[in-house]
Amino acid sequence: MLKNLKSENLEPKSPSYSQIETRYIVMPDHANHYGTAFGGTIMSWIDMVAAMAAQKHSGRESVTLSVDRLTFIHPIYVGDHVVLRASVNYVVKTSMEVGVQVVKENPYTDEKVRSTTAYLTFVALDENKKPTPVPPLLPESDTEKRRFENAKLRLEAMKELSKKMKLNPY
Ligand SMILES: CC(C)(COP(=O)(O)OP(=O)(O)OC[C@H]1O[C@@H](n2cnc3c(N)ncnc32)[C@H](O)[C@@H]1OP(=O)(O)O)[C@@H](O)C(=O)NCCC(=O)NCCS
Repeated sequence: MLKNLKSENLEPKSPSYSQIETRYIVMPDHANHYGTAFGGTIMSWIDMVAAMAAQKHSGRESVTLSVDRLTFIHPIYVGDHVVLRASVNYVVKTSMEVGVQVVKENPYTDEKVRSTTAYLTFVALDENKKPTPVPPLLPESDTEKRRFENAKLRLEAMKELSKKMKLNPY
C-alpha cells in the first residue's frame, strides 16, 4: 500500500544525479572455456551497477524486478578493462528503468568497443519492504531525453505484447 506518498510530492532528479560508472579488469576466473568473459559474470556486474543507480535515484532500497533486454554485441577477453555505466532512463511510480552500457577497453591501445547493453527494471521499497514511489525523472540533455522517450516506447511495447499474449501482469 502506498498510503499518501506520491511521486509528485518528491523532488525530481535528473539522470545525471544517479549515474554510476565502475571498472573491472577481466581475470582468468571471470572467463569461460572459450577464453572470453563469462556472460553470467558480466550480467552480475550489470545488475550491481544498475542497482546502485536505482538506489541513488530513489534514495531507497531497490530490487531487480526484471532484466528486460540484454545484448552481448562483442566478446570481452581476459585482460580487457571493462567500464560499466548505468543511468536511470525512465520512472513510472515505484519502478524505474535503468540502462547499462558495457565498454571494453584495451589498456595498451586505448581501443574502446561497446560490448554489451542492457535494460533492467527496479522497484524501490520502503521500510516494510513494500513498493514505494520514487522521485520523478527530469531528463535534461538530448541524450537523457532520447533515453527517456525510448524507455517509454519499450514499456508501451512490453504492455502491448503482454496484452496480445494474454499475460497478466505483464
Ligand atoms: C519487486 C516486487 C517488490 C514487486 O512486488 P509487487 O507486489 O508486484 O508490487 P506492485 O504490484 O506494487 O508493483 C510494483 C511495481 O512493479 C511493477 N511490476 C510488478 N510486477 C510486474 C511485472 N510482472 N511486469 C512488469 N512490471 C511489474 C508494477 O507495475 C509497479 O510499477 P509502478 O509502481 O512503477 O507502476 C516483488 O515482485 C519482489 O519482491 N520481487 C523479487 C525481487 C528480487 O528478489 N530481486 C532480486 C534480488 S535484488
